[in-house]
Amino acid sequence: MNLNFTEEQEMMRKMVRDFAKNEVAPAVERMETEDRFPREVVDKMAELGLMGIPIPEQYGGAGMDFTSYIIAINELAKESAALGVILSVHTSVGTNPILYFGTEEQKQKYVTKLASGQYLGAFALTEPSAGSDAGSLKTRAKKQGDHYVLNGSKVFITNGGEADTYIVFARTSASKGSKGVSAFIVEKDKKGLTIGKKEKKMGLNGSNTVELTFDQCEVPEENLLGEEGEGFKIAMANLDVGRIGIAAQALGIAEAALEHATEYAKERNQFGKPILQHQGIAFKLADMATQVEAAKLLTYQAANLRAQGQPCGKQASMAKMYASKIAMTSAIEAVQVFGGYGYTKDYPVERLFRDAKVTEIYEGTNEIQHKVISKHLLRD
Ligand code: CAA
Repeated sequence: MNLNFTEEQEMMRKMVRDFAKNEVAPAVERMETEDRFPREVVDKMAELGLMGIPIPEQYGGAGMDFTSYIIAINELAKESAALGVILSVHTSVGTNPILYFGTEEQKQKYVTKLASGQYLGAFALTEPSAGSDAGSLKTRAKKQGDHYVLNGSKVFITNGGEADTYIVFARTSASKGSKGVSAFIVEKDKKGLTIGKKEKKMGLNGSNTVELTFDQCEVPEENLLGEEGEGFKIAMANLDVGRIGIAAQALGIAEAALEHATEYAKERNQFGKPILQHQGIAFKLADMATQVEAAKLLTYQAANLRAQGQPCGKQASMAKMYASKIAMTSAIEAVQVFGGYGYTKDYPVERLFRDAKVTEIYEGTNEIQHKVISKHLLRD
């Protein structure tokens, strides 16, 4: 498929592909067995400038276009979906909210460190009783003198136990619904912030997912992001973009599943010939290849819109919804092609199967993506 990538974008793809093969792939087994955050790999990503690809150079980033950033997530996720989400959350929803809604002081203080990889970012929106209905969150932020006092809890926070800064959403008004939500930049060592249970997940081993508790946690007023009451819009606007990152991660999983299944089907002989020459397997792979191409088109269409500064919310949701569905179906079919071997941990398709599922859940379930897309249809 010719997506007319620029020379610079092709260089990014090659650089990240080589990095993923040489540095990420060898770390995957340890991430799987120990479920340990791959700090040493993230540090190397920082050295290569990958932690701030689309962030302007004046704020410590690489100053590259948004599509190059999506290419990087896509390539990383082919080897490790966990590294894909670490980068996506750090950049799209851990750094961008400050870049787009922060004051100059906030950008100088935080974006420069996040974009260089000195800091790792996280995004704390979801609560035990506010997942899809994010606007109903209950964490409170009460203004007292020159600071806000935060109380409440957050769940499923990606990068949460490893992050240096959190974009935290809390209610500054009890009565205004989603318009009573404000956003704050909270540093990890703030008194009253406790990192809680680390989730034992089905997949994405190595990606760190924790609970956070805020108990009388004092945040200086200068760490309010945007205006009071603007928090929900900040969350939504950044999720619009973040969902393209998740689409790229899901695409990487689907591409890896297709590649492994095709290679195996060429080599595995049954009934006297490679199983790829049996129609049952050949047609399966033909379907997978077609769906992967469609997911790629949707993902890079959304990325290119974003890169050109055009509205991309509808296309981002379409890409996220479709690519995650294809990640799941491709992983299921890849395990089927491998047969009994696919059900063992000796081959990567078993991991892809477990990693794929969450892409249909986080950054808005696919049911929520339907809601977002249909709202656009009503409005357009
Ligand atoms: N951009 C800017 N503003 C937006 C917006 C957007 N994309 N979407 C909505 N808004 C604004 C609306 O304009 C509205 O404001 P006005 O009344 O002034 O117009 C306000 O926000 C409320 O909008 P809605 O009435 O549409 O909001 P809602 O309560 O019906 O919820 C929703 C909409 C799409 C369902 C939203 O709640 C949602 O996206 N839920 C899913 C939450 C989610 O994605 N969580 C991800 C957690 S982070 C994560 O998963 C990271 C990870 O680990 C990988």
